[in-house]
Amino acid sequence: MGEFHLKTERLIIRNWQDGDRELMHLVNSDEQVMEFFPARRNREESDATLDRIRDSINEKGYGFTPIALKDSNEPIGFCGLADATAESPEFEGLIEIGWRLAPQFWRQGYVTEAAKRLLQFGFDDMALNEIVSFAVHTNHRSTAVMERIGMKHDPARDFDHPGVPDTHPHLKRHVVYAVGCDK
Ligand SMILES: CC(C)(COP(=O)(O)OP(=O)(O)OC[C@H]1O[C@@H](n2cnc3c(N)ncnc32)[C@H](O)[C@@H]1OP(=O)(O)O)[C@@H](O)C(=O)NCCC(=O)NCCS
Repeated sequence: MGEFHLKTERLIIRNWQDGDRELMHLVNSDEQVMEFFPARRNREESDATLDRIRDSINEKGYGFTPIALKDSNEPIGFCGLADATAESPEFEGLIEIGWRLAPQFWRQGYVTEAAKRLLQFGFDDMALNEIVSFAVHTNHRSTAVMERIGMKHDPARDFDHPGVPDTHPHLKRHVVYAVGCDK
């Protein structure tokens, strides 16, 4: 697979670099970013996740990729397409889109800009028929991104996330959004 590299007006979406490790740890451990996730990752666990995702992107040509500012190459978070099966068996064969951004970069439209470009990549370059996304039902900042990029809530597919432990019942219920290539 060649180097993963997409551009938008303000952003670069590329594969992981060693200089992104600090940002990856920040978004995996910051309380505000991780409000809707049951676990936090320490630096060692976060580094291991980055290595695993980077290898997978090199192999498959897609995955959760860093978003960097075009002018400085500074990473501000990640966004990407990934195999949804990893989240729940009912998503067998489907690709999801997801995102996480360092809080100082929230509310500037960066994720919406990156996600629109990734949907285009998914439909035009990967020839996908549908892309899904899901979030804890109270994660309105995330579902607002889904709506801004043209995804629609599909209540019939809402589910209790099997990876969320019973210690965190309020994080179990997930809403599912989807968009098709013929939108
Ligand atoms: C979910 C998350 C990525 C959304 O970030 P965000 O900054 O709200 O989303 P966007 O980058 O699309 O920015 C949209 C906001 O920027 C504003 N904005 C400013 N300039 C803009 C522009 N040029 N284009 C679009 N929106 C713009 C919008 O009005 C909107 O603000 P609002 O929330 O006041 O309505 C972020 O909250 C996050 O990382 N959360 C924690 C991790 C998480 O929950 N991930 C999802 C798990 S399912």
